[in-house]
Amino acid sequence: MHTLSRFSTATLLVATLAGPALGQSIAPRRSSPTASEASKVSQLPPAAAPVVARRALVVSAHPEASKVGRDIMQQGGNAYDAAVAVQFALAVVLPVAGNVGGGGFLVYRDQAGQAGTLDFRETAPAAASRDMYLDASGNVVPGRSTAGALAVGTPGTVAGMVALHGKKGKLPWAALVAPAVRLASHGVVLTEKEAAGLNRTQADFTKYNPGSPPVFVRAAAWQKGDTLKQPELAAVLLRIQQQQRAGFYQGRTAELLLAEMRKGGGLITQQDLDAYQPKWRAALRGQYRGYDVITMPPPSSGGVALLQILQMLEPYNLGKLGYHTPAAVALITEAERRAYADRATYLGDPDFGKVPVARLLAKDYNQQRARTIPANGQATPSAQVAAGTGLPGYESDQTTHYSIVDARGNAVSCTTTLNGAYGSKVVVAGAGFLLNNEMDDFSAKAGVPNSYGLVGGVANAIAPGKRMLSSMTPTILTKGGKLFLVTGSPGGSTIITSVLQSILAVVDYGADAEQAVAAPRLHHQWLPDQLDVEAGALTPATEKTLQEKGFNPKPRASWGRLDIIRVLPDGRLEGGADPRGDDAAVGM
Ligand code: GLY
Repeated sequence: MHTLSRFSTATLLVATLAGPALGQSIAPRRSSPTASEASKVSQLPPAAAPVVARRALVVSAHPEASKVGRDIMQQGGNAYDAAVAVQFALAVVLPVAGNVGGGGFLVYRDQAGQAGTLDFRETAPAAASRDMYLDASGNVVPGRSTAGALAVGTPGTVAGMVALHGKKGKLPWAALVAPAVRLASHGVVLTEKEAAGLNRTQADFTKYNPGSPPVFVRAAAWQKGDTLKQPELAAVLLRIQQQQRAGFYQGRTAELLLAEMRKGGGLITQQDLDAYQPKWRAALRGQYRGYDVITMPPPSSGGVALLQILQMLEPYNLGKLGYHTPAAVALITEAERRAYADRATYLGDPDFGKVPVARLLAKDYNQQRARTIPANGQATPSAQVAAGTGLPGYESDQTTHYSIVDARGNAVSCTTTLNGAYGSKVVVAGAGFLLNNEMDDFSAKAGVPNSYGLVGGVANAIAPGKRMLSSMTPTILTKGGKLFLVTGSPGGSTIITSVLQSILAVVDYGADAEQAVAAPRLHHQWLPDQLDVEAGALTPATEKTLQEKGFNPKPRASWGRLDIIRVLPDGRLEGGADPRGDDAAVGM
């Protein structure tokens, strides 16, 4: 458990002004880097050439899903139709994260410039309660919120896709689900990564599906090139194709899901399934160096934290400080530390309490937060960084992302998840789909980290029907009223900083889309107080300097899968598909 001591802004500033100066000052300069400045200082590692499309582009975590989205647009569908088809295709070809048994968030901007968001996040079942993951002594029971039927939130994906199609779609619903039905019944050829993921999870699949081993379990190890057929999932998708929402939340699929809950001690009832509603929410909007940033509001923390960090960074000329130099990393890390501290205290489901979004995004508030960043590049220990004060209190790594732009300029940025890899590991017997373990995104107990190391408190406590706080950050940037960037990533708590780094790479360091997604990443989330470093992200000399400055750099295996689209000045679409996964950009 982490204990925090609260320091006033003034104390903190004084406390952090001591220490040796860095070679480069990080004093604020209120101007954007010029294009030539940005290209001069850019030292992003070279990457493969990005895919460039003339009219429309889909970037997702799997080539088959990207092709499905492209095909739908070739048939005359728009970006929203393509999003529905990609979502269902991912449920088949990417069992680790694609889903019908999970939820997600979608940000859109249409050809006329109207923007909005769709929240199809899971909800806590009506029988859920604040202390449901604690033992009699009040301690969190390890594993209870992360695997098995009790970890499952009421799924939102199918209701979300039906709502998206109803409001924004053009092609018939059946045409959008058809590719997924085909992929599930004909089979999908496994990539090396998916085969390895299934092999790693064999013991858990067996443990959490007693008496009904799912299609993912077999005696021989899965190999790249093996075909995975999912006939039970195909039948579920067929029911969804024929009956839309009722094909999942009622009838045979619902019966099988509820039987699974009874078998494993889960809480979801038919009333929970009937009550589930996706929500259209106004997008959060902010500015960064002349770009309009359109992003996801609570119950995701992603948009608020992203805009806070960008506001804290804007006064500084990152381009001039250089790419991944000690000064630039110190500044970005300090901004992240402050935003994540606020996240832990203030953010939760806005339908269950007042989230002070306007105050958190107020310029004066973030300027004041930024003024506590030491000017000498020294780290502020997280124990000395509390959430900002004076705000009204709350009165709450395996996900996948796709970005789509169609020929008319409609743009979709969608992040969707089961939460952990293969979610709760529970596969609905007779229905072949995985259920989420999203309940772990709640704060099971104030101050106790969840599986991403994130802490929270009353704002993100469990309550019946409430949405658990997310980090998903689907985001769209425009400039001068024109679409510029569609970005997003999976990665739990790291999502916010991965999306941030894609924006900084393109805007501040002149990267192309593929460079922006391929560049090795850094991450800090306030607690634990460490700077996660992907291999190659820092030179040994920079890492040593940051260590000396108190940043506590720690090597960490690769994370995140950024899938982004940048609109080039001539209108062509440039795709960045993250090379860490099987991600693919497919255009036309
Ligand atoms: N399940 C990860 C997130 O929503 O942030």
